[in-house]
Amino acid sequence: RVSPSQSGVFQTESDLRVERFTESVSFDRRLYAVDISGSIAHAQMLADVGVLTPDEASQIETTLLAIKAEIDAGEFEFQQALEDVHMNIEKQLVDRLGDVGRKLHTGRSRNDQIATDTRLWVRDAIDAIDARLKNLQCAFVGRCDADAETVLPAYTHLQRAQPVLAPHYWLAYVEKLERDRARLADCRRRVNVCSLGTAALAGTTLPIDRHNVALKLGFADVARNSLDVSSDRDYLLEFAFCLTLIAEHLSTWADEWVLWSTVEFNFIKLPQQFCTGSSIMPQKINPDVCELVRGKTARVIGNLQSLLVLVKGLPLAYNRDLQEDKEPLFDSFDTVSACLELAAPIVAGAELKVDSIRSRLDRGFLDATTLMEHLIKLGTPQRTAHHQIGALVKQAMEQNCRLADLPLETFQALNPSLDESVYEVLGVDKAIAAFQSYGSTAPGEVKKQVSYWKEQLNLD
Ligand code: ARG
Repeated sequence: RVSPSQSGVFQTESDLRVERFTESVSFDRRLYAVDISGSIAHAQMLADVGVLTPDEASQIETTLLAIKAEIDAGEFEFQQALEDVHMNIEKQLVDRLGDVGRKLHTGRSRNDQIATDTRLWVRDAIDAIDARLKNLQCAFVGRCDADAETVLPAYTHLQRAQPVLAPHYWLAYVEKLERDRARLADCRRRVNVCSLGTAALAGTTLPIDRHNVALKLGFADVARNSLDVSSDRDYLLEFAFCLTLIAEHLSTWADEWVLWSTVEFNFIKLPQQFCTGSSIMPQKINPDVCELVRGKTARVIGNLQSLLVLVKGLPLAYNRDLQEDKEPLFDSFDTVSACLELAAPIVAGAELKVDSIRSRLDRGFLDATTLMEHLIKLGTPQRTAHHQIGALVKQAMEQNCRLADLPLETFQALNPSLDESVYEVLGVDKAIAAFQSYGSTAPGEVKKQVSYWKEQLNLD
């Protein structure tokens, strides 16, 4: 039992159990395409600096591309005995090219190779997630015109607070997703740095050209310190964090819509294609997809936690512990990617139950704060106005009526500065119309924001 990384220094073969315990090819095979891109760039650079002949580099490139085509087609057999994706591909290369294949690993270590592979992979993963985030933003913005007139109660403490326009809700999520995209773009700058050429940890005595490799692989920069970069997984943790925050945002949305789809709320009808039934209760149309978007957040948070604990206290530079970074990384990516993919059609296809929402908008005194601000505009200090409107609400509660149903005498008994104009701000529609501030739910403001996002996202 000779491990592929065992050199002549070993006097004994490894224990039978080591192969299965240390292998990573069962999960890191997923890196094959970026591993091959990295190897081709490395071989070309070795030829550029005269370490390989151009012919040797071209044989390596052609053979690696042939191996890639076989893996793409599912015709390549990865072997656990060869430990990881790197050794599996290199072994094939050597089998096919002999000594020329044995030259590929010149001036390179698997330590800088795996860091390069994961950087390339994360870079693509960021771009894929960004596209899905944008797609979900489009789904939210895409419903703004149809829902333009719909007023929804907004909540604090899950108690009715103030009325808002439905597009104001949708754009709240668009903003969260935009920050997620900005975070990814920022993370990408630190991901997009070339670690190849740092070799095991100290660099190499061979005349490699790291800037040449970086250029070939589209990296914007070259890592300065070989010791730092061979231990660095910050870029991967940052990405895992970005994914976690996306999952949290999706979870908030999913939770809200699970609640809104209940008989009790009756605000929204989720598209049936994204609901499932019950094995016993025939009437059930359950929001399982939204529930699982919420539920899967747990594993994404868990993965981030695993990664943070994994790197804690590791001495410089490479440690085999780092092999454990891949499964949480892949799982977080796959999970968040799937959640985003499903969220978009749910958002686009859900129907607001406008009659049901409207029929209860008079409950919960959504216009109370607007009335208080009306009083402030007439010269009453805020604290006084707050207290007086509270007293009015108490009266309305006792009479089981809306604020708008109270007679003018009641208002004037409370504060003589109140006149007929009070009725101009009562009721949710008037309350909405009274909003003015930048970023508020004022119809004009919301309209401006919808146009802004349509332009940002190149819609219509
Ligand atoms: N499979 C390893 C990892 O994922 C990369 C190889 C480096 N291994 C080593 N023994 N130096 O981190």
